[in-house]
Amino acid sequence: MTACIVGWAHTPFGKLAGETVESLIVKVACEALADAGIAAKDVDEIVLGHFNAGFSAQDFTASLVLQASPDLRFKRATRVENACATGSAAVHQGLKAIAAGTARIVLVVGVEQMTTTPGPEVGRNLLKASYVREEADIDGGFAGIFGKIAALYFQRWGDQSDALARIAAKNHKNGVGNPYAQIRKDFGYEFCRQESDKNPRVAGPLKRTDCSPVSDGAAALILTDVDTALKMKKAIVFRAAEHVQDFLPMSRRDILKFEGCAVAWKRALAQAGIALPDLSFAEVHDCFTIAELIEYEAMGLAPEGQGARVIAEGVVAKDGKLPINPSGGLKAKGHPIGATGVSMHAITSMQLTGTAGDMQIKDAKLGGIFNMGGAAVANYVSILERLR
Ligand code: COA
Repeated sequence: MTACIVGWAHTPFGKLAGETVESLIVKVACEALADAGIAAKDVDEIVLGHFNAGFSAQDFTASLVLQASPDLRFKRATRVENACATGSAAVHQGLKAIAAGTARIVLVVGVEQMTTTPGPEVGRNLLKASYVREEADIDGGFAGIFGKIAALYFQRWGDQSDALARIAAKNHKNGVGNPYAQIRKDFGYEFCRQESDKNPRVAGPLKRTDCSPVSDGAAALILTDVDTALKMKKAIVFRAAEHVQDFLPMSRRDILKFEGCAVAWKRALAQAGIALPDLSFAEVHDCFTIAELIEYEAMGLAPEGQGARVIAEGVVAKDGKLPINPSGGLKAKGHPIGATGVSMHAITSMQLTGTAGDMQIKDAKLGGIFNMGGAAVANYVSILERLR
């Protein structure tokens, strides 16, 4: 690959009172530039990931990045959107500008503010990322979609409530070590397993602890070419970056296979010239615990219908063979839609530079990222390695 990450920034995720989409963008843009030691005047291209879909009255947000510095005026700036994979769509768009030779320095920002929107409207906004003609009438917002997927999985492969609770408990435990996480509480397996007043059913078999929360937050990255990166303080190289888009209607696919996710992983591993066990860890898209379970199968950790074994045997625990979501994932960290993919790249970069604090995986060398939009519609895999 031709590009590297040379700086990053990350706000805490959660209900961020007093912040706006603009203030979040400005904060991470300034911090990422400072982290990389890059002056605003040297940025060639700006890419903003912002889903929006009604969360903020302000649409057309690309130029808000220019509020970070007058020196960003008259640069190319574009907003990209690909549902919950909007952040990775922005990152991969930046990579293309570098690969094309049209930019040396790219500023990538991901942002979302969701918590100022009332509950029922949150669900309606998110369902714009479903195939509205067939799917948007479902109760429970996007949890309704994944509740249906979970119910179908249980029908085909048996009740997986234990596995889902284990995934939730793992990610919440990991999230305690993440200073950016929205929920830093080790709920434990029993709490996640039992339906209760504090853990009510949300949709189908999914309880509150099976869902990522509603979040505000932003993250940013500075991308550059390898030659420039080699002269900088730190450099994380893309060994692979793959994007696979599938049909939007779930009725056109076997939704329990996450085929786009499987193809994206296969292509990315081939591009990087590695096998799955070579990864030191992976950050994957656990918008709902059932998604992480199916992703184990799609990425090749278990045959179809046997994802539960991966979590039961501790393979994906923080001290397991392939730790999955050492950051706590979307489940604990939060999921401000447009920021999530950028956050995954920033946190993976922290791991690979040994600066992930209590999230740190010892001797992390190769990090995998899977960010998904909709129900396995937009599928992005990145594989990152430390260059210096
Ligand atoms: N996981 C664990 N705890 C959660 C939580 C979650 N997802 N969401 C909220 N909580 C906690 C809150 O911190 C609060 O705790 P407290 O009582 O100790 O203060 C409590 O539950 C109640 O919070 P509230 O905001 O009233 O919960 P809620 O029932 O309105 O919302 C969900 C819970 C699951 C419905 C909501 O988080 C949701 O809609 N998530 C899905 C978002 C989504 O679809 N994203 C897109 C994915 S593709």
